[in-house]
Amino acid sequence: MAEARPSYPEPNDGLAVYVHWPFCLAKCPYCDFNSHVRDDVDDLRWRRALCAEINHVAVEAGKRTVGSIFFGGGTPSLMAPETVAAVIDQVGQVWNLAADAEITLEANPTSVEAGRFAAYRAAGVNRLSLGVQSLDDAALGFLGRQHSAGQARAALDIARRTFPRFSFDLIYARPDQSIAAWRRELADALELAGEHISLYQLTIEKGTPFYALMREGALKPPAEPAAAELFTVVGLFNLLLFIEKGVFMSLSVEREDLEQ
Ligand SMILES: C[S@@+](CC[C@H](N)C(=O)[O-])C[C@H]1O[C@@H](n2cnc3c(N)ncnc32)[C@H](O)[C@@H]1O
Ligand code: SF4
Repeated sequence: MAEARPSYPEPNDGLAVYVHWPFCLAKCPYCDFNSHVRDDVDDLRWRRALCAEINHVAVEAGKRTVGSIFFGGGTPSLMAPETVAAVIDQVGQVWNLAADAEITLEANPTSVEAGRFAAYRAAGVNRLSLGVQSLDDAALGFLGRQHSAGQARAALDIARRTFPRFSFDLIYARPDQSIAAWRRELADALELAGEHISLYQLTIEKGTPFYALMREGALKPPAEPAAAELFTVVGLFNLLLFIEKGVFMSLSVEREDLEQ
C-alpha cells in the first residue's frame, strides 16, 4: 500500500507555520505535551535541523505566502533568540512572508526568560503567549510551576512594553478551587489582559504524575457540577471584558469531562 503523504494546502492558499521546541526546565505534573527536560540542548544543531526541515517542507508545499508563524512547546522561550531569528529568516527565504504576518512565541514567565523578550522582539516575534497558569502562589506550587505569581506579573509587564500583542494562559478547575477564588483570579486577569486570554480546564492526562495521584485518591479534581459552575463563571468574565475594556476579547475556553 502506498505510504500516506502529508497533505498541503492548494498552491494558492496561504500557509501557517508551526515550529515545536520540545524542551522545558522541568516537567509539570499535569502535562503530557511533547516536552523533555535536557541539560545539554545543542541550539546550533537544532537551528540547522529546523532550517533544513523548512527547506524540505518548502519543496513539498511549493511557493506560498506565510501569514503566521507559531513557536510552540515545550518552552520556546528557552530557544536562543538567534535560532528564532534564523527560523523566521529561513521561512522568508523559501516562502513569501507576509508583511503583516503574526509571529507568536510561547513563553514561560521565569525572570530569566522574561530577560530575553526584547531579543525575541528584535528577532521578529510580534506576539507573545505567556504560560501564567495562575495568579496564586499556592496554586502555582500545586501545578509544579517554576515561577511565582509575582514573576508572572513582572513578565506580563515586560510583554506589554515589548510586543504589539500578547496573551496569556490560565488553568482552572483545580482541586478545591472555589467559585469566589476563580472570580477573584479572573478579575485580576482582567487588569492584566492584552488582546487574548486562554482559559483551560485542568485535564488529568494518562501517564502524568497527576493521573497517578488521582488513581491513588490523593488528587480530587472538582466533579460535575462544580466544574460546570467554574465554567459558567468564564461566560461572566467574557462579559466583564467587554464592559470594562470596551472591546470584545477572544477567549479560548477548553472544557472537558474529567476522566475519573
Ligand atoms: C504547550 S502548553 C505550554 C506552554 C508553556 N510551556 C507553559 O507551560 O507555559 C500550552 C498551554 O496548555 C495548557 N495545558 C497544558 N497541559 C494542560 C492540562 N493537562 N490541563 C489544562 N491545561 C493544560 C497550559 O495552560 C499551557 O500554558
Ligand atoms: S506545561 Fe509547559 S513548561 Fe510545563 S512541562 Fe508542559 S510544556 Fe513544559
